Order: sequence, then structure tokens, then C-alpha cells
Amino acid sequence: MIYLDNSATTKPFPEVLDSFKQVTEKYYGNPSSIHRFGADAERLLSKARQQAAQLMQVHAEEIVFTSGGTEGNNVAIKGIALAHQNRGKHIITSQIEHPSVFEACRSLEELGFTVTYLPVNTDGVVAALDVKRAITKETILISIMHVNNELGSIQPIQQIGEIAKQYPKLFFHVDNVQGFGKIPQKLENSGIDLCTISGHKIHGLKGTGLLYVKKNTKIFPLFDGGGQEGNYRSGTENVAGAVSLVKAMRLILDKQSREVENLTERTALLIKKLEQINTVIINTPNQRAPHIVNISVPDYKPEVIIHALGEKEIYISTKAACSSKKPDESAVLSACGFNKNISESALRISLNYQTTEKEIELFCQSLTETIQQLSEVMG
Ligand SMILES: Cc1ncc(COP(=O)(O)O)c(C=O)c1O
Repeated sequence: MIYLDNSATTKPFPEVLDSFKQVTEKYYGNPSSIHRFGADAERLLSKARQQAAQLMQVHAEEIVFTSGGTEGNNVAIKGIALAHQNRGKHIITSQIEHPSVFEACRSLEELGFTVTYLPVNTDGVVAALDVKRAITKETILISIMHVNNELGSIQPIQQIGEIAKQYPKLFFHVDNVQGFGKIPQKLENSGIDLCTISGHKIHGLKGTGLLYVKKNTKIFPLFDGGGQEGNYRSGTENVAGAVSLVKAMRLILDKQSREVENLTERTALLIKKLEQINTVIINTPNQRAPHIVNISVPDYKPEVIIHALGEKEIYISTKAACSSKKPDESAVLSACGFNKNISESALRISLNYQTTEKEIELFCQSLTETIQQLSEVMG
């Protein structure tokens, strides 16, 4: 099998599975229970929180464990909007956000909020100046992703953070689901108030994730109950999930510091080889995350190519589902100004730190053969 769909999800690291299993077996107490067994689980959870905070260079009380990226984004966006609506009801985001941001904003529009969906340039990048220009007295939140999940384009988070700092009354949320472990992202003194991470994108487990919430940031809790996770997210804590997430974070950050050049080189090799296939068009910009390549094979349905490759146990994907556009058109690519022919035939290939040159060669060879076979069928 050649797995090149790592932006959809990743294979858990064995160490992550081990830590989940160990904690589940040995520390299954409820951290809220007052007996010693509960206190042991509570201690473990609090250690995991401290370690996550250390890895992100923030404070332990700023870490809220969640079930993943979708929850983190919803808690951040709706939580800020509902808690601060008396100050204003305007939100700024971009046209290329993941559905968990985009649809959360759409829901808020139904509740009377106004949302500015900023355009992007042909490289899939939002202009920091556009963010600044969109700010009004009513603006309470800016939500811009770090790395786009379809194109791999990188947003000017640092610059937007500097802008956000000049408006102390508004909050800045970053969806860092695709950037964490690939591109360093400083939080301290960055202007970022909230930042989402998902476990299963970094070789952790599905159902794990965290939201960084800067100290003294008030958010309206979406779940009411026992007041766990600093009252941001009630519900019995997933202690084993939190411990395994921290393990995945540590391992991926270690890989980021030691192996990111290798990953960048392998992605460059992939692009070079794809450029040699004359029916393939590269959509990913030159300035991109080290692991995502987006291509189009115009006139060929992406699903057909994906299934044909799947027959050979090679796995890649098409765009993320987004309800605002026709089902077969990528909303991200059309926001970048790509024509319909390109945005309806997009494919995403996403690597991980273990992807080998051999796998890349085999993939490109199989893609060439697949296109050749399909063109024969199509006559
Ligand atoms: C940029 C981005 N944000 C958020 C999410 C949602 O994360 P999860 O699958 O953990 O809910 C994804 C998943 O594809 C993503 O790519």
C-alpha cells in the first residue's frame, strides 16, 4: 500500500497507541472522582496538560483538550461570538477555510452575525492588508487558517497577528490543524488568542485534539455540564486521549525539527516527476507547506482516478467536501480563480515524514499508467 492521503488522516505512531492502551488499562478512573484512583487519573491529565503547554510554549491553563479540529474550531468561533456579541457582531474569515470554520460562520450568520469572507490571490493566500481593511468597530473575531488543507498554501499568520494586536478588543483564531508539526508556529506574543490542533492529523488518534485559549479569554461554552476543561468543555475527560495526543505532538515536533528538509525535498521530487506527466497541472503554489501537493488532470473525473489508483492500493484524495459549491467543484480552487476545468478535476497528494522516494516513483508511474488507460477507454 502507498498511503498519500495524510492531510485526511495519518497512521497513529506505535508509541501513541501504546500510551493510549496503557493509560486506558491502568488509569481508567474519572479525574473528577474524589478517591485516589480518580486523583491518579487527574494527575496524569494535568501532567499531559503541562507537557502540551510546554511543547507549545504556553501556560497549562491555556490548553483545552477537545475531540479534534472540528470541535476546536467550533468552540473557538461560536464561543467567542456568543460571549462577546454585546461588543459587536462582525467576524472576518477567508474564502478558503475548512468547512468546520466556514459552516460555523454560516451558522452565526443565521443568528444575526455578519461575516466577511476575504478573497485570496491565485496562490491561495489572504492579504494581511485585506484583513486590516475589513476590521470595523463591530469586529470581534478574525479566524484565518495557517495551512490550507487542499492547496497547502500558507497564510501570513504572523502579520495578521501583528494587526490583531493593535485591536485589543478583537480575538484572533488560527486553525493550525494542517500546520502543526510541519511549520513552526509561535503563540506567545503572537497576537493569536485561540489555536486549533487535531490529533489524527499528526499520527495521534481520532477523537483527540486541543484548543489553545489565551489566558483571560472569555468563551461561551458549547457544552454545559460538570465544568471540566476550565468550564470550556464539560464532559468526562479523555485522559488516555490527552496523554496519547501529547505523545503524538512530541514525536511530530521532533520530526519537524530534524526531518522537515527531507520531507520538503521529497515533495519537490514529487512535483518534478508530476511535471513530467504532460496531462498533469500543478495547482499548489511555490510557497507551500512541506507535505501537500494539489494537481489537476483536466477532463478526467478525480473520483475515477482515485478509484483506479485505489485498485492498486495507492491512496490519494480529492478536495474537502464543501456544501457552498457544486459537489464536484473545489471551493478553494475556485476562490483562487482557477477555471472550472481545473477546479473540478483537482486531486490532493499529501505526504508524511515516512514517505519514501520509492513510493513517490511508484505513485507517479501508476498515475501515468492510469491516465493512459482512462484515455484509451474514453477514446
Ligand atoms: C484545516 C483543517 N481544519 C479542521 C479540520 C477538522 O479536523 P478534524 O478532522 O480533527 O475534526 C481539518 C480536517 O480535515 C482540516 O484540514
